[in-house]
Amino acid sequence: MPQDLLQLLRDNQGRQFELHDRYVNPQMREMLRLVGMDTDYVRASGSYVYDSKGRRYLDLITHSAVFSIGHNHPHVAATLKEVLSAELPNILLMDCSLLSGLLSERLLKTAPHLGKVYFGNSGAEAVEASLKMARGATGKPRIVSFVGAYHGLTYGALSAVGHEMWREGFAPFLPGCTQVPFNDVAAVAKELAEGDVACVLGETIQGDGGVNFPDPGFWPAVADLCRKRGAYLVLDEIQVGMGRVGGFLHAYQHYDVEPDMLLLGKALSGGQAPVSAVLMRDEIFGRVFSRVDRCFIHSGTYCENNLSMAAAWATLDVYEEEDLLRKSAAQGDYFLQKLLPLKARYELVHDVRGKGLLLAIELGPPQSLSLKLGWNTIATMNEGLLAQMVIVPLFRDHGILVQVGGHNFRVIKMMPALNISREEIDYVALSLDKVLADCHRFPGGNWGLVMEMAKRAMVG
Ligand SMILES: Cc1ncc(COP(=O)(O)O)c(C=O)c1O
Repeated sequence: MPQDLLQLLRDNQGRQFELHDRYVNPQMREMLRLVGMDTDYVRASGSYVYDSKGRRYLDLITHSAVFSIGHNHPHVAATLKEVLSAELPNILLMDCSLLSGLLSERLLKTAPHLGKVYFGNSGAEAVEASLKMARGATGKPRIVSFVGAYHGLTYGALSAVGHEMWREGFAPFLPGCTQVPFNDVAAVAKELAEGDVACVLGETIQGDGGVNFPDPGFWPAVADLCRKRGAYLVLDEIQVGMGRVGGFLHAYQHYDVEPDMLLLGKALSGGQAPVSAVLMRDEIFGRVFSRVDRCFIHSGTYCENNLSMAAAWATLDVYEEEDLLRKSAAQGDYFLQKLLPLKARYELVHDVRGKGLLLAIELGPPQSLSLKLGWNTIATMNEGLLAQMVIVPLFRDHGILVQVGGHNFRVIKMMPALNISREEIDYVALSLDKVLADCHRFPGGNWGLVMEMAKRAMVG
């Protein structure tokens, strides 16, 4: 008999860094070492992950909102076990899966103006599918997206990403892709004027770009322009959908707009099996899958696999059972009220913003001379490390996991599980207050820490 897998893990505990150094991604290991987060995690449950010494960490990163129902939710785990033991037919090529049909029906009830669903395995796959569908359905070549956008790292998605950090070194991209400033209706109108745009692709709220909210009239205006110019509006809610901003399942439902395609991923699966989805108007599907011999025209082997479908089904159960849309709104309001005073209290905090449980603290250059010296020194050495002055002590001294927005290194983004408690929110606010107070003493502990990190990063 082969060795028991859990025993294998126990026998090799602690070897992950050495193995990744040699075989997987040595730069990842190096980055974790640099920021002191090379922790030996052994378990994850609810809002917490645990290291081998039994210390727990409150996870506010949640892999950018994958773990909206918490880690390893028992209902999702039980459903997956049930599916595995039932010996159901799975990804038969010549079949229509009942499970994917039921899940489509349930998902479309949440966005009734849309009529068909395409399932993928990752967010980027959903983005790819939407771009291809938009071109296929319109016969038009161009794709308009936004500066600061993140849509994933496969070539089509990367061609729509609006930040150089991800794109550098990978040109040429898909032809016909243009990024315009977010919230700039006139810039969108200009691109659409020729009538050659297949779709406008945007995150309803930009996540990795630094938690950037749309102006109230922005999406309705863009939708209107798209309608007039024969382009589709694709809203990417892979990060900010699934109740993240509270009240509704979908973020667009806050903004008086109806996308032609809606992209879901991350939290949809509950974090235990990969799944993403493109919800689209019937018309788009009909134009692309236009004949019987085109029934496979866009597809992938594992797209409707049972585990992914069941994980999404069970995740939706959890949203309903635990009233997560209401909780996300209520706890989000409470969290924001706790964070807002930090802006008045600390000059390094330039902004605090949030909606539901999507929250951000934006750092910026201080006014006072001594702090300015510290800020400028780090900014010159390695701008990317500035926010680590807050993030690393929060992790090390308070057991709280947060990270920067993605490619916006000045924004600390917080996306806890949607059932985070008020006590946990109080603890985070108090811990942030202590850490920020330390950051306002120069020269002091946190500045020394980040200076040391910047020096080590330079040595490489
Ligand atoms: C808005 C958005 N779109 C697309 C993606 C890509 O998803 P995936 O990493 O699952 O490919 C992400 C991932 O962070 C995202 O935040």
